[in-house]
Amino acid sequence: MRYLLGIDIGTSGAKTLLVNELGELIALAGKEYGIDTPRPGWAEQHPETWWNAAKMTISRVIRKASIDPKRIAGVGLSGQMHGTVLLDRSLGVIRPAIIWADQRAKRQCEQIYTRVGRERLTRLTANPVAAGFMAATLLWLRENEPKTFGATDKVLLPADYVRFRLCGRVCTDQSNASSTLLFDVQRRQWASELLEVLELPSKILPPVAESVSVAGHVTRQAASETGLAEGTPVAAGGGDQPIAAVGNGVVAPGVLLSTIGTGGQLLTPLNQMIVDPGLRTHTFCHVLPGRWFLMGAILSAGLCLRWFRDNFGGSYQELDREAAPIPAGSEGLLFLPHLIGERTPHMNPDARGVFFGLGLRHSRAHLIRAIMEGVVLAMRDSLEVMKDLGVKPGQGIVSGGGARSPLWRQIQADVYNMELTTAKVPEQAAFGAALIAGIGTGVYESVEAACHKTITYAPPTCPIEENVRRYQDCYQVFKGLYRRVKDDFLTISRLD
Ligand code: XUL
Repeated sequence: MRYLLGIDIGTSGAKTLLVNELGELIALAGKEYGIDTPRPGWAEQHPETWWNAAKMTISRVIRKASIDPKRIAGVGLSGQMHGTVLLDRSLGVIRPAIIWADQRAKRQCEQIYTRVGRERLTRLTANPVAAGFMAATLLWLRENEPKTFGATDKVLLPADYVRFRLCGRVCTDQSNASSTLLFDVQRRQWASELLEVLELPSKILPPVAESVSVAGHVTRQAASETGLAEGTPVAAGGGDQPIAAVGNGVVAPGVLLSTIGTGGQLLTPLNQMIVDPGLRTHTFCHVLPGRWFLMGAILSAGLCLRWFRDNFGGSYQELDREAAPIPAGSEGLLFLPHLIGERTPHMNPDARGVFFGLGLRHSRAHLIRAIMEGVVLAMRDSLEVMKDLGVKPGQGIVSGGGARSPLWRQIQADVYNMELTTAKVPEQAAFGAALIAGIGTGVYESVEAACHKTITYAPPTCPIEENVRRYQDCYQVFKGLYRRVKDDFLTISRLD
């Protein structure tokens, strides 16, 4: 029996797991870390923190599994997307990485739209600009930290840095590259025309590998630090969203993946490029060769419930139990979940949370339920954009921490009006990373074959007709509410 190791460099921690080729979990380890916010709206992490967490979790997994590390056929990586690691000429880290949640480059996003123009941007990158994406971050650095910018010899994304420490190879993969906004997603290569317009030097961008390919082999140094065998193949891997899609078996068109983690994402694979001319959703390269995915992303999903839990108490299980008896629609209480601004569909860094319709009959339990519903109603916006573009997935899979809550699963089935199931796999992103490591190393013939061999699904959660109707009404008010308060978000941002 061969084994595969998957590592996910997430936003709140790293997770590593070891599975056998049937996908059975042998060992799992996690290490949490925080986000540094040197100023309000900034979000940074030190690449060394990721590497330390990777080292610690890899060696723990190998110890727990007590197998000969030479039996590990390959290592795969998944990581938070969009962020920027800056390396100097000797490949040392210049400053902490600026991650996807960072909002400092608001002005630079506007500059990109002005300099490039919306139409050309759509043609070149197929995506909207957002703060925290590498393109905007590099412009911010050039303007505000010219020394750092001048010293930069290479830029990488988070998982790329860990791969570099494992096997010494400086590269990225197509899915991560597409999330920088500097990548021609159609041609699957760096967007040279865009780089010219933005006057960004193309030499700082790393070579781009196919996600399923072997990018390098574990070095002697990394072997001594992790317990892996020297020479173990390391796959290029990819961004956490497409890799988690693989871990859920979401690899072909027609299937919707709904993930509630810190943020929330709706993702569906594409056989050919489909771009939203309104630039509300993302079209990125999937980790399968010649495939893409369409994705809508909201910034605060699980984060909203965590905010509630941290401020008002209770465990997630208790919150779930409290909210369950409240009827669908929370008796007229609505919640806009844009706590840290919003991506799909509004692309508005100034948006904030709103409780609407609060009355004397509403209790703490209503607030909890309204939060859970508001998150899913906001995710439904992405489904509506997909439908507008002619993409109509017929079946759905729920994933992320939110999938552990029976109530949140039901709310998703009701709001999307779709049967939803869950993949019976632990930690889908790390699991997907392990599967990806099995392609280039010959354990599996293809990504599809890997999913087929290893993933089974739980019985589905079906929509409840009465709730579907109720949420249809709620959704209309929800959409109108954002439109009505939109301008006031900008006003209150000035009062911050
Ligand atoms: C996807 C996104 C996040 C990050 C961090 O667009 O912003 O999911 O990948 O997990």
